[in-house]
Amino acid sequence: MIAIAERAGFTIAIDGPAGAGKGTLARRLADHYRLNLLDTGLTYRAVAYALLQHALPLDNVSAAETAARQVDLAKLDRAVLSAHAVGEAASKVAVFPTVRRILVEKQRDFAKTPPGAVLDGRDIGTVVCPDADIKLYVTASAEVRAKRRLAEIESIGGTANFAEILADIVRRDERDMGRADSPLKPAADAHLLDTSEMAIEAAFLAARTVIDDVLAKRNKA
Ligand code: C5P
Repeated sequence: MIAIAERAGFTIAIDGPAGAGKGTLARRLADHYRLNLLDTGLTYRAVAYALLQHALPLDNVSAAETAARQVDLAKLDRAVLSAHAVGEAASKVAVFPTVRRILVEKQRDFAKTPPGAVLDGRDIGTVVCPDADIKLYVTASAEVRAKRRLAEIESIGGTANFAEILADIVRRDERDMGRADSPLKPAADAHLLDTSEMAIEAAFLAARTVIDDVLAKRNKA
């Protein structure tokens, strides 16, 4: 493995739509390069969850800002926050610029902590860490993402309807790509990884090739 130079703030930014496999990829890369890991989606989910818990409407901006200030990155509970409804609600509170600003500041502080981090989300390469050392944009067709989600639900004994899952994914994409503040889009200097026809292992290897190449050039310089 090519070692990451001992300097603060080495950052790998991973963006992409829901269900493209960026979470798994981020975890594998953080393990491999021994970097901290932050799934920034959990921060938006934590805000949405707080509002849902208090039966507050998701367009209550001041309550969302308060919840955002209270988000503690060390206490994000994936088991609680991973529910599908929480993800849907998260994409509604994520449209508010003031909420985003509060969370982005926490995410940037995390990224700066040595030895650096892998962050995954929607706006990491474009807004949170525009100077990231590596930027990856991980995508897959909506149909493939819906098929994967259905398989995941069925693997734990659940049932779901493919057409409904697909409609959900398309709706979430539209909200994330269409919002005015920090819409989901690849950074101009992002490496694109389309996982439609690619297993996670192949995506991991492709990402490592990109990263090792950057590290090799840097070590030579
Ligand atoms: O990735 P995940 O499904 O956990 O994200 C939930 C929602 O949070 C996304 O649909 C998106 O609206 C929002 N989000 C965001 N910016 C990020 C991460 C997530 O707007 N960096």
